[in-house]
Amino acid sequence: MDNNREHWGSKIGFILAAAGSAIGLGNIWRFPYLVGENGGAAFIILYLLCVVLVGLPLVIAEILIGRTAQKNPVGSFRELSNHNPFWVGVGVLGVLTGLMILSYYNVVAGWSLGYVVESARGSFQHIGDPEKAGILFDQLSASWTWSLFFSACFMMFTIGIIYFGVIQGIEKASKIMLPILFLLIILLVIRGVTLEGARAGICYLTKPDFSAINGKTALLAFGQVFFSLSLGMGALLTYGSYMTKNEKIVSSAVSVVVLNTSVSLLAGFMIFPPLLALGMKPAQGPSLIFNILPVMFNSIPGGYFFRIIFFLLLSMAALTSTISLLEVITAFVVDEFRLSRKKASVILGGIVFLLGVPSALSAGRLENFTILKLTFFQLVDFISANIFLPLGGIFIALFVGWFWGMKKAIPNLLEGSVALPGFIVTIWSILIRFVAPVLILLIFLNSLGII
Ligand code: PFF
Repeated sequence: MDNNREHWGSKIGFILAAAGSAIGLGNIWRFPYLVGENGGAAFIILYLLCVVLVGLPLVIAEILIGRTAQKNPVGSFRELSNHNPFWVGVGVLGVLTGLMILSYYNVVAGWSLGYVVESARGSFQHIGDPEKAGILFDQLSASWTWSLFFSACFMMFTIGIIYFGVIQGIEKASKIMLPILFLLIILLVIRGVTLEGARAGICYLTKPDFSAINGKTALLAFGQVFFSLSLGMGALLTYGSYMTKNEKIVSSAVSVVVLNTSVSLLAGFMIFPPLLALGMKPAQGPSLIFNILPVMFNSIPGGYFFRIIFFLLLSMAALTSTISLLEVITAFVVDEFRLSRKKASVILGGIVFLLGVPSALSAGRLENFTILKLTFFQLVDFISANIFLPLGGIFIALFVGWFWGMKKAIPNLLEGSVALPGFIVTIWSILIRFVAPVLILLIFLNSLGII
């Protein structure tokens, strides 16, 4: 093992950092609005199926590649494939996808940070209905100074953490932020489901109408599984590369997936009962949480403070995700080009911020600049989350299942967890070799209209 490589300070270090990467805007911002636009409970069931059949097995595979090779995504594929250019290209695709996701993710993270400040200023104090909150959101996000200022601040925080390195930065940040976020969400769920008229929202999330499902929704559910689990672009691979060989991969992966899925489901129960109780429609797109949450806090005693804390925690959850995105790119440049971590993080953070400018302007000045009917922001989101991540997922499955092969993968998986029951290994190998690649391919073909 590379003794110079930094490793997690404790066994829980990996789980916390990987859960920190997984839990973020994807759970609290993206998941609820996709559920709202794509049929509620039926979408959730499809999502959960994808998590079990494709998400979890791939999370295990991705961590395994990183822990075995102890390198960044490009270096890991290069080493385990004996310098095969195709697989090196898969690693490069991962790094590029990370760059794309971070560029617009940082914009939404900036909105969240901006909402901390607006909450403290009392901007939402007298807003009683989500429609008015929506108008305010439109005004704020359309202001390029507001959105660029906060996204620049956010990028500086991200760079700051990456600058200090894995254990000092990433592990510590996740240890403090995650538990508090969990508690606050539970508090909001309790408030939401006890509101008068909350039943409609609960039914919306639990009574599926399968007619809402088609090829496009399946692609979106798949994309969301990858996005939410930070899967398919080498983030888990990179975090896995900081793991030692005596840690258990499967149980760590299960913990991360269970934690992440619970936060998404809780976020659903936090948003929809109050939304429907207030008579609003679920399909509101990416502004959903910014319309409903500020108002919700007005019906809670101490709402002013809770609102500040909530957006602060949402920003922190986003931060543990942005650091994993920047870490992938930084680890690549540090390992491959021998640049110092400090220099690399500042330069790359700056470049990604600039790449995010058109996304930040998509809510305002560039609102009418569309490609395939999507704004720049929506286009980057669609391509990276729904195309590149699942594509990365197919490649990871094919690599571990067929190219590197089970003969090498299984002994490496068992290192650190000799007691893993044989049937689990068998199920995992079937899912990774057959189920995951075939399912992803079918969904791709279907959404392209080919089958
Ligand atoms: N999983 C993060 C979220 O749900 O907010 C987003 C993300 C982080 C995607 C890291 C991909 C990634 F590599």
